[in-house]
Amino acid sequence: MKNVSLATPIEEGDPAADPKAFRRSLGQFATGVTVIATRHEGRPVGVTANSFSSLSLDPPLVLWSIARTSRSFAAFSAASHFSVSILGEDQIDVSQKLSSSREDKFAEVDWYPGIGGSPVMAGAIATLECSTFAVHEGGDHIILVGRVLQHRRYPGKALLYAQGQYGVVDEHPAFRAQAAADPGTAPPGRTLRDLPLTTLLYLAHHNSSAAFERHRREENISLTQSRILSALTRRSPLSRQSIVRQVYMTPQTVDDALGELLQRGCLECDGDDRFSLSEAGQMLARSIRMRLQEYEREQFAGISAERLDTTRDVLARFIEGLAEQAATDDAA
Ligand SMILES: Cc1cc2nc3c(=O)[nH]c(=O)nc-3n(C[C@H](O)[C@H](O)[C@H](O)COP(=O)(O)O)c2cc1C
Repeated sequence: MKNVSLATPIEEGDPAADPKAFRRSLGQFATGVTVIATRHEGRPVGVTANSFSSLSLDPPLVLWSIARTSRSFAAFSAASHFSVSILGEDQIDVSQKLSSSREDKFAEVDWYPGIGGSPVMAGAIATLECSTFAVHEGGDHIILVGRVLQHRRYPGKALLYAQGQYGVVDEHPAFRAQAAADPGTAPPGRTLRDLPLTTLLYLAHHNSSAAFERHRREENISLTQSRILSALTRRSPLSRQSIVRQVYMTPQTVDDALGELLQRGCLECDGDDRFSLSEAGQMLARSIRMRLQEYEREQFAGISAERLDTTRDVLARFIEGLAEQAATDDAA
């Protein structure tokens, strides 16, 4: 066997001993996001699901799994038909609504009845209308295999889900940077400075976030936990729901991170279920902030305070403009 030097795992062990850690390892696998829906006793029933997978071309089969604990379990285990709507990048709200435990998940989303009455989501980038082909045991889930009777594909980019976060499909930054820097692929004399500003922002964000990950690891803190600390430093106390809104992570990921921070003694929770930082939480937040300041000092050494101020101004104006635009779009 080749002599390999293995990196130290962040966590490891028996899945039964720590199911959350097991789920985090599984979360390293990136997926798309679907809404799977059926009609049960005359009413639409559906869940957000990323366990969806294609299975067979001939016959045309797909599969997914539903938790036995889901309130929609009985409806799907008895369903003759179900629909799969593959969500686009602008459908995070649909994913959030359909993964909630609200009574009427379908009230505020646009859908139409497909084959067998199964609700199909408007705005999806692909839809599959299925009859139930087989149902298999799968531990605390059941696996539903559907035979695709009708498929539709629309333009648009997929909504992704990986490592507890939503994402979008984008060219790998290594290719973009290469295209800019590589004399073979870029026009002669072209450098990073010639790229559009938005591409530069993306590359800066992506690479700095990856570089800062080392510091989070040294503090033994995840990206979600660090975003929660920073949200609670800006304003507190905050309800779980406002935290979910501010950190751009799914409710489940936020719940896990809140649980871990509580266990670590970093959070306090008042009688109204609102969270704020404990003394230990404030210390951890301060220590992350100091690491960030140190990181910025290193990265921007040699750039004058004036130029950094201008950069701050430009970025702040850009972000404010985007926020105003989003508010106008929401109101429209
Ligand atoms: C991105 C994402 C993917 C999910 N994937 C699944 C899945 O594959 N199977 C499942 O049973 N639940 C999955 N869930 C959770 C369900 O959507 C959620 O438990 C369900 O909608 C709760 O509602 P119910 O109890 O009314 O059925 C997922 C949630 C999210 C946010």
